[in-house]
Amino acid sequence: MRLSLRFIVPLLIVLAGIAYAVVPLVDSLTVRWFTRDLDIRANLVATTVEDAVHELVQVDNKARVRQLFTKITQDERLFAMGYCAAPSAMPIATPSLPPELRCDSLARFMTEDPAAHVLSSARGPLLVSVRALASDSAPSGELVLVHDMSFVGRRSEETRKYLFYVFAALGLTVSLITVVVAQLSWRGWEQGLRALMRGEGILRPTDKHDRPELRPIARDLRALIQDIQSEHRAREDDQAPWDAAALKAILGGDLRGHEVIVVSNREPYMHMFQGDEIVVKQPASGLVTALEPIMRACSGTWIAHGSGTADRQVVDRHDRVGVPADTPAYQIRRVWLSTQEESGYYYGFSNEGLWPLCHNAHVRPTFRATDWEQYVAVNRKFAEAVVQEATSSDPIVLVQDYHFALLPRFVRDLLPNATIITFWHIPWPNPEAFSICPWREELLDGLLGSSILGFHTQFHCNNFVDTVDRLLEARVDRESFTVSYHGEPTAVKRYPISVDWPPSPTLLTKSVDQCQRDVRHHHLLPDGHVVGVGIDRLDYTKGIEERLRAVQRFLELRPEWIGRFSFIQIAAPTRSSIEHYQEYESRVRALAMRINTQFTDAAHPPIILHAEHHEPREVYEYFRGADLCFVSSLHDGMNLVAKEFVASRDDERGVLVLSQFTGAARELPEAIIVNPYDAEECAEALFQAVTMPEREQRARMRLMRSLVGEFNVYRWAGRMMLDAASVRRRSRLTRRFEFPIGLRGRPQGRPEPLPLHT
Ligand code: G6P
Repeated sequence: MRLSLRFIVPLLIVLAGIAYAVVPLVDSLTVRWFTRDLDIRANLVATTVEDAVHELVQVDNKARVRQLFTKITQDERLFAMGYCAAPSAMPIATPSLPPELRCDSLARFMTEDPAAHVLSSARGPLLVSVRALASDSAPSGELVLVHDMSFVGRRSEETRKYLFYVFAALGLTVSLITVVVAQLSWRGWEQGLRALMRGEGILRPTDKHDRPELRPIARDLRALIQDIQSEHRAREDDQAPWDAAALKAILGGDLRGHEVIVVSNREPYMHMFQGDEIVVKQPASGLVTALEPIMRACSGTWIAHGSGTADRQVVDRHDRVGVPADTPAYQIRRVWLSTQEESGYYYGFSNEGLWPLCHNAHVRPTFRATDWEQYVAVNRKFAEAVVQEATSSDPIVLVQDYHFALLPRFVRDLLPNATIITFWHIPWPNPEAFSICPWREELLDGLLGSSILGFHTQFHCNNFVDTVDRLLEARVDRESFTVSYHGEPTAVKRYPISVDWPPSPTLLTKSVDQCQRDVRHHHLLPDGHVVGVGIDRLDYTKGIEERLRAVQRFLELRPEWIGRFSFIQIAAPTRSSIEHYQEYESRVRALAMRINTQFTDAAHPPIILHAEHHEPREVYEYFRGADLCFVSSLHDGMNLVAKEFVASRDDERGVLVLSQFTGAARELPEAIIVNPYDAEECAEALFQAVTMPEREQRARMRLMRSLVGEFNVYRWAGRMMLDAASVRRRSRLTRRFEFPIGLRGRPQGRPEPLPLHT
């Protein structure tokens, strides 16, 4: 309808314009035509009456002349007639001859221009034609014919009326034709496009002109259109804010009906016995922090190790439980591990082998063949769980972290059409460092079962590609960052992880002022006491010892702050069965005690250590109640504590002191960036933090908040999902052709894989 109006209104305006211009033209033409007509008539009348008039004039029978003229003027268009023998004579005329027509005034009506011969009268316009009567036998004279032109006006009026009807009819006809044609062709296009999208279009199977051989082309066209659309959308998406709704839109649009399965070692909710009661705990894990809001958005299945003491008590007969308990949004499928499995796969190979291998924290990795066996077995066990949970042959499987380096290959073998995205949450070392692992080729082969392999930073992507280049017979394309191994391409991509934005309102219910008061009162510190916080797992990669030493050095260098500044360290015990971790915890506790002893005279202790787990709400209270947050990791893939601190400070205050060895330092240069190994530099940074003017805090925090807000966890997941959609479209295309053109299953020697959009 709107389309029709868009056509018709301008059309009618144009037609009205044309009519407006044409009417005066037609008027003047009509007048000219009729004038000429009347002129010709005048000639005819003059020729006809010439002889009779001569004869009567000769005999001076004026009465008969008048009689003759009266008879002739009975014609309705001839108004009056007269004869002038000479300019000085009186005209012999019908009584209707206008008085201004005297014999001496006729010269005016003998010009070439008939328009000048028009007289106006009460009756309307009159045309005066003067014809000279010449005869050898008789005196010459002038014959005057006065034509009534009022009929010309009437005719003009009629013509205008007809013209109006003609234009109106023309306008309506043209509009009608336009609308019909537009509607037909629009519908045709629309249907055509729809049909094409359905893979039918011009090739509808029911169509008698159906050409089955063209159907694949239609399908490929559809895939291409979708590709273009989604790439366009991806570009648009970069302009638009990323949030749960945007992620849902991708899952409900490009990936509608596709199931999403997450696999991680750590589960997002653990059920624990507390006495006889079962309580739910959210573990301290950056991975869990990031994936939880995504799973809420996509309602998939999260497969994880059921490690809570009461986990078995709450699952159904398929080992599933809906979470969160109050409003279940997705389900956890728990996989049970024996003590032997957990010890070899989790504590042993994952955390004594791969963890120190990938982190430059100067802790030697330990590799045991028995651990490796368990690692292989548990990866297989989880791959089987994926197959059990999958309701389609091509689910999207999001594999998380170093616990599952072999799982992508195992899943690929069992579900060849699955889209497997593996995200490595920790750093990837350089080839020399990685190659000390006795099962390096197996690990790489396992990871290359993925369709996409993600890291936080480009640096880690480069390290991975270099490692493959060095250790495997694989083709590495550095242009598209794709590794082809046994003809199977894996795109290696950077997806910097982040946090939920805006943070859940439940974490912000208490005002910053209230948090500041509560944190201080809770620790018997006076209002206005300057407080720094550190919140980590008790892990040697986190640089907690270095951090405490920095506080010690700061107080040594700036004694005026003794008793006015305290550092609260929340350290959640982790992987406690591992000797390194036990030693680390003891060292941290001892160091905290030593520092407090050193400043024993201080009104308030410089270090307050809480070596226990805190739930997210408590963690946020510390973030919001503190004046500064110190993240001093010796090596960290990203570090979400830094981003959470920024997200928590909606008052735009607080200072972040951040290790240069975290992925986050690349994104948050407005933090005070430090080398955690340099105690002097860190002490200076603490001084800068506690004395930073509010205006500067605000300026820095505002910039960091805008970055974290824009590059939030929904973007992290959304970009992966868009790439997953892209991979799926291309592999569907691949499967349709006899020979693959892009991703999975491409035989060796075939053309290069298509790069994913970056
Ligand atoms: C790191 C790892 C995660 C892990 C988390 C907690 O962030 O990348 O995979 O879940 O540490 O460690 P935990 O061993 O307690 O799961």
